[in-house]
Amino acid sequence: MYAIAGATGRTGQVAARTLLAGGQKVRGIVRNAAKAEPLRAAGAEIAVAQLQDRDALAFALDGARGLYALLPEDPSVPEFHAHRRRMADGLAAAVRASGVPHVVFLSAPAAAVAADNGPAKDLHYAEAALRASGAKVTIISACYLQENALAALPAAQHEGVYPNFFPSSDVAFPTVATRDIGQLAARCLLEPPPKSEVIDLQGPLCSVRQMAEALGRALGKPLQVVDIPAAAHVGALTSANTSIGFGLELFPFPADKAKPIPLSCTDNCCEMPAAPGINSRGHSNTVVSDTPDGLPSAVNR
Ligand SMILES: NC(=O)c1ccc[n+]([C@@H]2O[C@H](COP(=O)([O-])OP(=O)(O)OC[C@H]3O[C@@H](n4cnc5c(N)ncnc54)[C@H](OP(=O)(O)O)[C@@H]3O)[C@@H](O)[C@H]2O)c1
Repeated sequence: MYAIAGATGRTGQVAARTLLAGGQKVRGIVRNAAKAEPLRAAGAEIAVAQLQDRDALAFALDGARGLYALLPEDPSVPEFHAHRRRMADGLAAAVRASGVPHVVFLSAPAAAVAADNGPAKDLHYAEAALRASGAKVTIISACYLQENALAALPAAQHEGVYPNFFPSSDVAFPTVATRDIGQLAARCLLEPPPKSEVIDLQGPLCSVRQMAEALGRALGKPLQVVDIPAAAHVGALTSANTSIGFGLELFPFPADKAKPIPLSCTDNCCEMPAAPGINSRGHSNTVVSDTPDGLPSAVNR
């Protein structure tokens, strides 16, 4: 049996359904059993536990051969980092207590560093806590989620604009669809590695302007890209239903001081910008996802 935390979320649902489709037993770990009803109907066992609740989570992990987990982001929580670290601590303690032998954890390239990297510093913390848990750990270091573009949906629908928080709307960077992450997570659970590993997951290069075009196509109207100046980032985010803490942490320093996070690259990811020799985390593998339609399919959901 494989345990899937965040089983009502985007990547967790895909991981759970991929395993079920392959005839595997799945236990979805959720906060709200009613929300998991479709997954239960699809054949999963459902356990209720919050990540920060070590005992409930350890109970839910009993007998699991592997666990898929992520560190959820709740921008409305004022103590954004403290909350995430409680979840990371609960998760790692439950993994240790239950003895689950393999954990697949969703992280990001920015988690390579411990500080000054916004929400990724919690991923760095969680990776370290999981590595110390005694389990074998597969880190999926996923690039920019295509579904992030959905944050622009209200502005796009109501004002016909796509806000750009990047220094340029024309520089393309790797993106990935959450569906591909979920499918890779299922594959990783089925094929545990001999030792802990980090897998870079990269997908099609896409600029903010191309995302705006894709979202516009899905909505059936062209969108105007509007650059949000660095000084207005926090205000724009906090007015978009997030806590001030989250806005500040997403942009902890002026954009002109931000350093690009190095991406590793292999010969078989020819569409990615080559950055040989900057692989600082001992990454064992690079997986290139080629889903071109993550954003439109997410809009249609
Ligand atoms: N943004 C990026 O570009 C990027 C890049 C790389 C990695 N990531 C990572 O990707 C993650 C998002 O993955 P996703 O799209 O699969 O997530 P998602 O769709 O936002 O789902 C989050 C899941 O976690 C559950 N959850 C929330 N709080 C919980 C708690 N306290 N205890 C137990 N479960 C809880 C939610 O349950 P409910 O359904 O009950 O709410 C939901 O099932 C981010 O958190 C980030 O760490 C992001």
